[in-house]
Amino acid sequence: MAVDLSISKGTKAAQYQSLLPQIKALMEGEDDLIANLANVAAALKEQFNWWWAGFYLVKNDELVLGPFQGPVACTRIKKGKGVCGKSWVMAAALIVPDVEQFPGHIACSSLSKSEIVVPILKENAVVGVLDVDSEHLNHFDQTDQAYLEELVTFINFNDASD
Ligand code: SME
Repeated sequence: MAVDLSISKGTKAAQYQSLLPQIKALMEGEDDLIANLANVAAALKEQFNWWWAGFYLVKNDELVLGPFQGPVACTRIKKGKGVCGKSWVMAAALIVPDVEQFPGHIACSSLSKSEIVVPILKENAVVGVLDVDSEHLNHFDQTDQAYLEELVTFINFNDASD
């Protein structure tokens, strides 16, 4: 069965509106977390061609690298560290227009210039984060935040810790 993604070329909102139902459909009927996260990262990269898009998963009180698309990345991030660790502690999305201005930013890639991190919640606890990096400054805004927050609600985390 072909599962090709249909790529939209409209506004940013239109691109998300085209992509999100496709991502939802890709995950329907599949309960393997790694398979689903891998497809989400691939779909985001294919639609937006961001520098890096992927997941860090909470394991034993730190974030551990999960499925992603882009250059190799740091494997572990301590709670509260970097943009990802802060988003985890705050249980809130963080938009960083210029990573050099963010105290404690962890530079996995020296080419990354701006970033957005969205926490993934299960039963009110953060179980991971979606992290997206751009090689352009000021690349992410409230539109990205709104759609990425919606996207992560599609992810079934039931097999992460069970
Ligand atoms: N910049 C992130 C680290 C992860 S990489 O960008 C893939 C941070 O400061 O948490």
